[in-house]
Amino acid sequence: MTESDRQKFYTDQLRALVSEKETALGRRLTFCVVTFGCQMNARDSEKLTGILTEAGYKETDSEQADFVLYNTCTVRENANERLYGRLGHLNHYKKSHPETVIAVCGCMMQEPAEVENVRNKLTFVDIVFGTHNIFKLAELLYTHLSTGERVFDVWEDTDLIVEDLPSKRKYSFKSGVNIMFGCNNFCSYCIVPYVRGRERSRKPEDIISEIKALADDGVVEIMLLGQNVNSYGKNLGHPITFAQLMKQIEEIDGIKRIRFMTSHPKDLSDELIETMAESKKICRHLHLPLQSGSSRVLKAMNRHYTKEQYLDLVDRIKTAIPDISLTTDIIVGFPGETEEDFEETLDVVKKIRFDNAFTFIYSKRDGTAAAKLPQVPEDVIKDRFNRLLSLVQKNTSEVCGRDIGKVVEVLTEEADSRVEGMLTGRLSNNIMVHFEGDSSLISRIVKVRLLESKGFYYYGRLEE
Ligand code: 5AD
Ligand code: SF4
Repeated sequence: MTESDRQKFYTDQLRALVSEKETALGRRLTFCVVTFGCQMNARDSEKLTGILTEAGYKETDSEQADFVLYNTCTVRENANERLYGRLGHLNHYKKSHPETVIAVCGCMMQEPAEVENVRNKLTFVDIVFGTHNIFKLAELLYTHLSTGERVFDVWEDTDLIVEDLPSKRKYSFKSGVNIMFGCNNFCSYCIVPYVRGRERSRKPEDIISEIKALADDGVVEIMLLGQNVNSYGKNLGHPITFAQLMKQIEEIDGIKRIRFMTSHPKDLSDELIETMAESKKICRHLHLPLQSGSSRVLKAMNRHYTKEQYLDLVDRIKTAIPDISLTTDIIVGFPGETEEDFEETLDVVKKIRFDNAFTFIYSKRDGTAAAKLPQVPEDVIKDRFNRLLSLVQKNTSEVCGRDIGKVVEVLTEEADSRVEGMLTGRLSNNIMVHFEGDSSLISRIVKVRLLESKGFYYYGRLEE
């Protein structure tokens, strides 16, 4: 029996149990999945939602549900604090609704200290699992419901990739697609390799057949997901590069836009730049985390590139794809960062003028190499963070306006929640535009003239 067959068996068992409870209660059983963190987690949550829907539960946005599942993030310390706050509220609710089942999964539950904390102090949490076995949700929930016992199932690592799981997409017309799991880079500040395990790529044929099925189901835009997509395929039995995979995906009818996340500068090949430049479907957007502009700090971060190499890479990208929109991640206050190091970061930001930069205050993660290094004082970090943020915001507002007057292709995503009759869509370069139109245009690619820049988004007019 394959693992996915085993899980289908448990989903059937769970469905029978759910239906029995619903008959007894005279109402549907509800679930709520709360997602913290990145797009990987968002995609995992779609799979978790798919499993629960197959098992007969009804989705709700309210955390006052029969089954509440927190899919956690642990990349920075504050994510952990937020989770414990939310759990406290839920505990209060459970006191008057003891039938509520509470589960916690995801990256934070791959940390032994956090699992022990939940096990010993948060005894109202019924089910705990990590990132490697989300496909087991039906089995874990069935076990809890049929025995009444708390269920803890956290795997240290895995080389298992379970295909053919159900999934329920948040948007009908766009979807994330995992192409690889885990990370082997061990950047010295980062906890991801410890909680997501070693790098493993899905087989290209599995990825292609998933994308074909998505296209048949009305999806026009896909986001290829991996911690370091540029090293995709290296460890497969029949090695293949990320660029070669992209070329195969480009051939799939119905898919109009291809995005990907995240790229590591050290592995971004000329082959990929060329493939992007030639492609009609790969979006004009590249998220290329810089982390720091100081070669000295980059070395301490174990990033394997220098300031000069990063600038040169960006130069080659911009030469090959002049209309590319570049975004980045930057960490401020990495241990040992001096004023001179920080000024090197400002220098890179001034030179490149990123379309957007996500700026983070360094957060010490226990177990990582950088956690043992002397920390930069908090007030120094705050000051640097504010200086960086104002430079980034200035750049963003200047850069965003560069396409005013142009007619561009826009994927209409949703009705604008604030203004009646307005729609929100996304340009190929990932910038949003608001324009007047009918909601029947949602999920379609339309032509919009960009009229006004609002700093980080546009106002536009639909062109016939
Ligand atoms: N502290 C602050 N930011 C971090 N990131 C990863 N680990 C940390 C940390 N310990 C940031 C990096 C990464 C993004 C997803 O999160 O910039 O690119
Ligand atoms: Fe973390 Fe570096 Fe891997 Fe990204 S590449 S997940 S920053 S270790």
